[in-house]
Amino acid sequence: MRLSGVLVCVLLLCVEGSLGDTPANCTYEELLGTWLFHVSKGGHDRHVDCSTEATYVSTVTVTLQKLAVATDPLGNTGFFTIIYNQGFEVVLNNYKWFAFSKYDVKNGTVTSYCDQTLPGWVHDVLGNNWACFVGKKVRPVTARTDYRKLSHANHQELLQRPYKSNPEFIKSINSWQKSWRAVSYPEHEAFTLQELYYRAGGPASSIPRRAHPTDAPLLKLNKPLPKQWDWRDVNGVNYLSPIRNQGTCGSCYSFATMGLLEARIRILTNNSETPIFSPQQVLSCSQYSQDCDGGFPYLIGKYVQDFGIVDESCFPYIGKKSPCKIPENCGRVYTAEYSYVGGFYGGCSETAMMAELVENGPMAVSFEVYPDFIHYRGGIYFHTGLRDTVNPFELTNHAVLLVGYGQDEETGQKYWIVKNSWGTRWGEDGFFRIRKGNDECAIESIAVAVKPIIKLQKL
Ligand SMILES: *[C@@H]1O[C@H](CO)[C@@H](O)[C@H](O)[C@H]1NC(C)=O
Ligand SMILES: *[C@@H]1O[C@H](CO)[C@@H](O)[C@H](O)[C@H]1NC(C)=O
Ligand SMILES: *[C@@H]1O[C@H](CO)[C@@H](O)[C@H](O)[C@H]1NC(C)=O
Repeated sequence: MRLSGVLVCVLLLCVEGSLGDTPANCTYEELLGTWLFHVSKGGHDRHVDCSTEATYVSTVTVTLQKLAVATDPLGNTGFFTIIYNQGFEVVLNNYKWFAFSKYDVKNGTVTSYCDQTLPGWVHDVLGNNWACFVGKKVRPVTARTDYRKLSHANHQELLQRPYKSNPEFIKSINSWQKSWRAVSYPEHEAFTLQELYYRAGGPASSIPRRAHPTDAPLLKLNKPLPKQWDWRDVNGVNYLSPIRNQGTCGSCYSFATMGLLEARIRILTNNSETPIFSPQQVLSCSQYSQDCDGGFPYLIGKYVQDFGIVDESCFPYIGKKSPCKIPENCGRVYTAEYSYVGGFYGGCSETAMMAELVENGPMAVSFEVYPDFIHYRGGIYFHTGLRDTVNPFELTNHAVLLVGYGQDEETGQKYWIVKNSWGTRWGEDGFFRIRKGNDECAIESIAVAVKPIIKLQKL
């Protein structure tokens, strides 16, 4: 069964009455054009509260144009990217603007107002002078309602059912192809369908669509890339932090970004610093993401730039939203940069990902999780298209950490090596390999790179 993550998210809203996630569904084309940003009084620090409408005292005019250019009426130019289908970030005249697109949830349907934003945050590129703003496009775009109703009550009930192993499904995967091997994981039977669904991305992850895949400029390489690469073994040295287990919270985006920071600090310091960061801090404190309902590594790179991230030991993982209470004496690590590989969302490519990987280290990637994937035990995964007739399953978008690539000697099949956050008992000791070069399950569409700032003592 294939349906939108957005829908389930609406169901949960009804059930839980919370408005935590962002079911907005906007396209790149809808963002293009001239915007008025209505700005509140500035001069705040990062603790400014932009969760509700403020009084707006000035207006800034910004035009967003292809492919990733923001301009103002004086002719200054800067940068912008859509963030998946959720909102945008603009960097112009040394200010960074970020807001989610406006949406409305009524009677089980979502309406996206892609020519408007929810209250968002603006601050200078050094993280000073914070204010809130709302954006409104000068030329309106028609509001779009996603009518994707199922029989809500029935579906909700369905998701509460325990997951049941389906040996026929496993058998059909293994007899239909030889590239990868499926098994039943008995531990999955401890989960409800909904919990498995959260494990694979959660309701706010929705369905990947590319902003504009084809017209991105081709990458030119200075030197040829190695035939294979693996950050677990670079001349015998492992630069990755251990595999973790996210449990039944849709926190993959947080684990992927923490794993990225952890690996890159290991690389930058030749393993003399081996931090483990707190995915829980993101769940409990980040307003740029939707706690256990999902989020986006790009925005966690931004969160860590704006607020810093503490060690796991300072704020241990409990796998559900809790009050944002961080002990005073916890040191924080910040990011110098966060970006979509390829420059902006839509600019990603296999070559750009390989170059980024070898040059700078692991990166966060997201891909579509189909029901066959959770049974992966080893080999080179590709989506078989086979269905589990016993367990209805939602298509989700799961964030993970890209750590290497290679090529199968016998078949010549190219693959990526990816670190998952489902524990070490899953897959190839917690990792999986997936086809490379054909955008398998959209894994080459939304790679995110983040550059952490290492401790002064380690320079
Ligand atoms: C988002 O909108 C596009 C059309 O612009 C539609 O094809 C897609 O199914 C929508 N996605 C969701 C999750 O509703
Ligand atoms: C809400 O949805 C129900 C069921 O789809 C429909 O019968 C009803 O007319 C809708 N109400 C409004 C105000 O749109
Ligand atoms: C990095 O660490 C390894 C292993 O501890 C060591 O052999 C090597 O000399 C170090 N490299 C540098 C550049 O310090």
